[in-house]
Amino acid sequence: MPDDLGIYYGEYLQLDKILDAQLLESGREGNKPAHDEMLFIITHQAYELWFKQIIHELESVVDVFDDPVVEDKKMGQVIRRLIRITVIQRVLIEQINIIETMTPLDFLEFRDLLVPASGFQSIQFKTIEIMLGIKRENRISADKEFFHSRLTGPDKKSLDELETKPTLLELTDRWLQRMPFLEFGDYDFWKVYARAVEKMLASDQKLIEGNATLSDREKQFQIHGLEATKVQFQSLLDEDTFNSLREKGEFRLSHQAFLAALFIHLYRDEPMLYSPYRYLALLVDIDELFTNWRQRHVIMVQRMLGTKIGTGGSSGHEYLTNTTRQNRVFLDLFNLSTFLIPRSDLPVLPPELRKALGFFFSGQKASS
Ligand code: HEM
Repeated sequence: MPDDLGIYYGEYLQLDKILDAQLLESGREGNKPAHDEMLFIITHQAYELWFKQIIHELESVVDVFDDPVVEDKKMGQVIRRLIRITVIQRVLIEQINIIETMTPLDFLEFRDLLVPASGFQSIQFKTIEIMLGIKRENRISADKEFFHSRLTGPDKKSLDELETKPTLLELTDRWLQRMPFLEFGDYDFWKVYARAVEKMLASDQKLIEGNATLSDREKQFQIHGLEATKVQFQSLLDEDTFNSLREKGEFRLSHQAFLAALFIHLYRDEPMLYSPYRYLALLVDIDELFTNWRQRHVIMVQRMLGTKIGTGGSSGHEYLTNTTRQNRVFLDLFNLSTFLIPRSDLPVLPPELRKALGFFFSGQKASS
């Protein structure tokens, strides 16, 4: 074979390394390999490759947001990269179907040989969690504990270092805090919004009270719910109340950032706010898709192990159910919906502010 073929498919992709990296534990010392262990290894390796790509995309997004000013023209690229992450995440969820073609009995052929290795030693998975914004102090105790007891020194060190860097959640908070437009000249949007909310809640109360199909008990129940909604709106509009709830962990975003995110959601149809809205919506998608993956994984684990403990020594199904609930990053952006008001009740912005938020064609031809 001539050896001057130029760049060569297998060499370029380093297939010699990748395709020689499936060492079956069950096949050691001349034992007959368990047939399904190949699938188990290849599935995990495919995941790790996609995790690498997700980290590559996240690093570039973090770089953009780490600048003191996020240039508008970079938002398109950020959005495209976040979309790419969500498309990969959908593939990751689908891949669970492949591992599920292995039956629990087939898994038992080699499962015990894997102890004490475990998915929670996936440094890339932890890297993604940390880059997005999951903090050690917010992890459930078993998850925290595994950082100390189940990772090698170098892995622990690299995750410790990563935890000192700003996360996408923190950078998004800073970016939102810098958003102009919330106070525009003499116009204080939040005063106007508070009046619109009052009007909306008063009209809701009237509707409940005048609803002849409701019994007194049902009315009482609904009024009680409405009172709770009022308290939530008050906590949003009063910075001190918001901050005390934030200290209790009910919000992660700062007050200013939360308000900015809400403004973006309320007026997302204004041209200047559309990209910020797309960006925030993609963070919600990413959080939701990771949660979907965790849910799919935990159901698969239950099917595979029942109530047995995991190879890493966790309570298995129970541990994973708890990390699925706890390891959320952008919950505030989900909870924003509490504070949306119908378009019909939305304050009309003053013309100068609308102009500042729009793209206006001046009508003049550019001179050549
Ligand atoms: C037969 C298939 C699988 C079983 C039975 C299984 C089981 C488990 C169990 C029991 C845990 C909890 C930790 C422990 O005690 O070991 C865990 C964690 C984990 N597994 Fe799997 N797993 C399987 C496949 C996969 C695949 C294909 C991936 C893809 C990368 C994966 C990724 C993870 C990750 C990232 C964690 C840590 C999750 C967290 O800490 O919240 N697992 N797995």
